[in-house]
Amino acid sequence: MRIDIISAVPDLLESPFKTSILKRAMEKGLAEVHFHNVRDFAFNKHRQIDDTVYGGGAGMVMMCEPLDLCISQLKAEREYDDVIYLTPDGETFNQKIANSYSLKKNLILLCGHYKGIDQRIRDLHITREISIGDFVLTGGELAACVVADAIIRLLPGVLNDEQSALTDSFQDDLLSPPIYTKPEVYKGMRVPEILLSGNFGKIEEWRHQKAIEITQQKRPDLLKDF
Ligand code: ADE
Repeated sequence: MRIDIISAVPDLLESPFKTSILKRAMEKGLAEVHFHNVRDFAFNKHRQIDDTVYGGGAGMVMMCEPLDLCISQLKAEREYDDVIYLTPDGETFNQKIANSYSLKKNLILLCGHYKGIDQRIRDLHITREISIGDFVLTGGELAACVVADAIIRLLPGVLNDEQSALTDSFQDDLLSPPIYTKPEVYKGMRVPEILLSGNFGKIEEWRHQKAIEITQQKRPDLLKDF
């Protein structure tokens, strides 16, 4: 899968893709992530990419032309499944959206900065708008990293144990059950006996029951669909 991320501050994007699981996914050729600096598409010698808001108001708006040039160039090179704009007024990102994007081939993620982008770019190119939650970040870059991470880890071969993505919280609308590792007793607290029993049928039943209890306590809203 290929993800193209368009940003006015691409430096903000790089490190998550240079470490750990995402880095390995790129090295194995399972994912390609390309960064594009909007400033490279600026049309005047000041490399201007933003201007004041028509009608008055605080803040700067990312201009049409550099964004249009950048997106149009990418679209001329290949077909994209979606051109996604990261914005706090978008649809809230979740595991179902990540799952569906993990089956796609080419995605563009456009990061807004300053006050946002000119509406005409949304009308011209954007096919989906995504928010990572009801709060406002300084730009879409961190949101783009979150979205790309959630998608790439689902690609076959990225995680060592294929099962581990399937048993994540949210994959079946339930949060994860508690997990333990050695030692068996820590500060007087014992690992639940069932997990040491070797009876995998019973262990699965216990985990499922715990997942329901924990979801009921922490996120009862998820059980509405369960
Ligand atoms: N840009 C600024 N805030 C954002 C958010 N919450 N989600 C996605 N993009 C954003």
